[in-house]
Amino acid sequence: MNQAGKVVQQHDHKIPGFAFIHDFAITPNYCLFFQNPVSFNPLPYVLGFRGAAECIKFHRRSPTKIWLIPRDPSQEVQVLETDPCFVFHHANAFEQGDELIVDSVCYETFPGIDHNLNYQEIDFDARPPAQLWRFQLNLKTKTAQRDLLVERSCEFPFIHPDRIGKPHQCIFLAAAHQPQGDAPQQAIIKVDPEYGEQEFWSAAPKGFLGEPVFVPRPGSTQEDDGWVLTLVYDADHNRTDVVILDGTSLEKGAIAFGTGLCPIARLHLKHHIPYGLHGSFTNERMKYEE
Ligand SMILES: [Fe+2]
Repeated sequence: MNQAGKVVQQHDHKIPGFAFIHDFAITPNYCLFFQNPVSFNPLPYVLGFRGAAECIKFHRRSPTKIWLIPRDPSQEVQVLETDPCFVFHHANAFEQGDELIVDSVCYETFPGIDHNLNYQEIDFDARPPAQLWRFQLNLKTKTAQRDLLVERSCEFPFIHPDRIGKPHQCIFLAAAHQPQGDAPQQAIIKVDPEYGEQEFWSAAPKGFLGEPVFVPRPGSTQEDDGWVLTLVYDADHNRTDVVILDGTSLEKGAIAFGTGLCPIARLHLKHHIPYGLHGSFTNERMKYEE
């Protein structure tokens, strides 16, 4: 697809087995798909006994498969295996010598949720935290090595759009306020894959947030020069704020404010936006109060 969103090339590949694929990564020469080691029995879902996600079973003894599909359809498809883990989202991938590097958010098992549970009843201690890992995929030895980049539970990685498929030095993610274990997302972290978590901004205790969207400053050349936008649900007032942070420094211009830090802008909406997943779009302008 080109930058105008027009499809310029299309080809198909079949892979054996069930595939729960939510996201993929792309480099100049490859598309990367992770095939999580799960199976799916749709019957309880079809009969209305369970939610769809509750019909997914994780296989702890089976590897996660990484499919490397060349963008040139005449080239051979490769598959590498890595430790059993579950991946929804990739931050980015790029090529480096004989290797493909991909940074992804991994769970040690499938993080299913009982559909009968209220969000406030979830036992977060019993759930696997989502953590950011780096995979080094060696095309010559056909091996995959993975290393933990960030221990704090985090999700929804976002990078500068111009860095997609190229080496990156900055990833923004929604994260837990607490440094270990699983917990609701109440913070944003900025990660340098070489050095780990670099910056932390939190809306705790009463703020709950979603995907941080990075908007580059027009004409900027620095990878983190821009703004980080996110929706923060304010549980004190039952409404949502649009929060804007400075990408070069999440705490820039911040002043001590209660237990948190002020962003560079906080727009109070007149209502709440249901705490959902991510990728929310609207054609309408949102109205806010000063
Ligand atoms: Fe997603």
